[in-house]
Amino acid sequence: MALSYLILMVTIVTAVASPIDNQIHLIMPHSGSAGLKHSDDINCLSWRLAIETDNLQGWTQIPRSCVDYVGNYMLGKQYRDDCEYVAAEAYEYAKGLNLTGDGKDVWVFDIDETTLSNLPYYASDEVAFGMLPYNSTSFDEWVAKAVAPAVPGSVKLYEQLIELGFKIVFLTGTKEPFRTPRIKNLKAVGYTEWEKLILKGENEHGSAVVYKSGKRKELEEAGYRIRGNMGDQWSDLIGSNPGDRVFKLPDPMYYIA
Ligand SMILES: *[C@@H]1O[C@H](CO)[C@@H](O)[C@H](O)[C@H]1NC(C)=O
Ligand SMILES: *[C@@H]1O[C@H](CO)[C@@H](O)[C@H](O)[C@H]1NC(C)=O
Ligand SMILES: [Mg+2]
Repeated sequence: MALSYLILMVTIVTAVASPIDNQIHLIMPHSGSAGLKHSDDINCLSWRLAIETDNLQGWTQIPRSCVDYVGNYMLGKQYRDDCEYVAAEAYEYAKGLNLTGDGKDVWVFDIDETTLSNLPYYASDEVAFGMLPYNSTSFDEWVAKAVAPAVPGSVKLYEQLIELGFKIVFLTGTKEPFRTPRIKNLKAVGYTEWEKLILKGENEHGSAVVYKSGKRKELEEAGYRIRGNMGDQWSDLIGSNPGDRVFKLPDPMYYIA
């Protein structure tokens, strides 16, 4: 009995301790937390399904009673497997397309949580998966460091798409002043070339849906065909000119309208 319990614990610890490159973080306990009593009843898998399908919109924080669940999901094997599954399915779709060879077939990638992962930042003790309110100063400092790892499966998909003849467009809500660290970060993890890297102008204040729709419209007006569009937020994938097919990566850490 004691032995099987020990084996179970070792299995759990091993499963949780396979995160991004040595970034092992203590998940904050939720005991003694104030408020949000009703959230104790939440089935966290149901919550995650609801946010991934966009049935639940406009949420601002992970339910307090699901912070451990989300932390274990993000730092464990399931998140990696889920991302790699999406990438593999995207490749299956892309392989079946007939490209014209005129250099106008593009694949649009979002950056945060689609090609670069901010998981080391969100899992850090300071942020603890949004237990504290969003801090744009500390997030900007993290982006400026240009040390984000790649999202699992994304560099391989990127390479496969280029091999198939797609041109790559990165379309991100990151602001223009961060262009240099973003380029450094993209190159550091293996994204070495692209047709366009579109960042948000300092004076562009619209929602992500409006901003990204507008940029995709400009792409299509310039003669590009958006054959695939991949993002971790529904606001990357809805709106106008979404592309022939969209692929949604998991992200239970935050919601962007
Ligand atoms: C691609 O082109 C080939 C040859 O023209 C055709 O047989 C095939 O059906 C096309 N596939 C798609 C997905 O359009
Ligand atoms: C936000 O982050 C900055 C930089 O790390 C820090 O100095 C500041 O105290 C933080 N603000 C809050 C409200 O936690
Ligand atoms: Mg994103």
